[in-house]
Amino acid sequence: MFATVDKDACIGCGACPDICPEVFKMEDDGLAEAYKNPVPSEVEASAKEAAEGCPTDAIHLED
Ligand code: F3S
Repeated sequence: MFATVDKDACIGCGACPDICPEVFKMEDDGLAEAYKNPVPSEVEASAKEAAEGCPTDAIHLED
């Protein structure tokens, strides 16, 4: 699975690195980035939770 963050949609709420710090982190621009691709299988569930929890649906997951 691969994760991407749509920087045009992210509002920098910070929820995704709270939920899944193994895949998401906040960058200097105040927006999130998916820094771990492919997503390790052991954190796929947590990455999905982060995507579902994003208030602006900025996180995209693909197989
Ligand atoms: Fe941005 Fe959504 Fe994460 S708004 S900080 S991608 S939870």
